[in-house]
Amino acid sequence: MNEYKDNIPQHVSIIMDGNGRWALSRGMERKEGHRCGAEAMRIAAEFAVEKGISYLSLFAFSEENWGRPKWETDALMTLLMDTIHDETPNMMKNNVRCLFIGNRNNLNADILQQMDKCMAETACNNKMTLIIAINYSGKWDILQAVKQLLMENPSGDITLSQDVFFNYLSTAGIPDPDLMIRTSGEMRISNFMLWQMAYTELYFTPVLWPDFRKSDFEAALEAFKKRKRRFGKIEESINIP
Ligand code: IPE
Ligand code: IPE
Ligand code: MG
Repeated sequence: MNEYKDNIPQHVSIIMDGNGRWALSRGMERKEGHRCGAEAMRIAAEFAVEKGISYLSLFAFSEENWGRPKWETDALMTLLMDTIHDETPNMMKNNVRCLFIGNRNNLNADILQQMDKCMAETACNNKMTLIIAINYSGKWDILQAVKQLLMENPSGDITLSQDVFFNYLSTAGIPDPDLMIRTSGEMRISNFMLWQMAYTELYFTPVLWPDFRKSDFEAALEAFKKRKRRFGKIEESINIP
């Protein structure tokens, strides 16, 4: 049983992995893989709108990705900045609201400005919310929530519950992902939405991110339809005393 219309997940998150391997297997530079990966991002976002998905979150750059060579992190930041700039008109056309999550502290002023401009321009759109995680990590998210909570409640005078804590996460107000897709055959979470993915259905595909097309997205949605989400309970059909 799935509670959503036509079994379409309300929130899909994607760990877009495999850009480097895609490029190297073609004798290209890694940054060429990232460039084609940005195109796959646009295709996936368009498809999510077509399918009536309400929230699409994309892991674009992790805190740990700073451990890569400078030429690659520079190329990724420039590409992200250009992509946000170039895609904002498309978001307006498709009625997509864009949010950015992640640690803003070590992002440069140019990309922050582009992110803020895109969020402000698309703020009133309401067909789909696109969440782009830049300089994000799940552990960072939990820790920044705790810090914020302590700052607002220095005396510790707060009745803490999961619902209260949720309001301090960078995804406050956004339902947890129903489906998480990871490309490139890696089967791990790599510090993505750790709190939020407690009951997310996981889908792994060997397709490298720059090759990820609507048919691959459709295959993930088909697989999701067949999943039985139990949330720790037993199925009603076998609930015989
Ligand atoms: C995903 O592709 C993009 C980012 C992590 C920024 P990779 O760059 O990780 O590609 P592979 O895993 O090396 O193939
Ligand atoms: C995860 O991919 C992060 C993003 C897709 C942004 P990585 O390529 O960084 O993950 P690991 O290092 O293989 O776990
Ligand atoms: Mg990778």
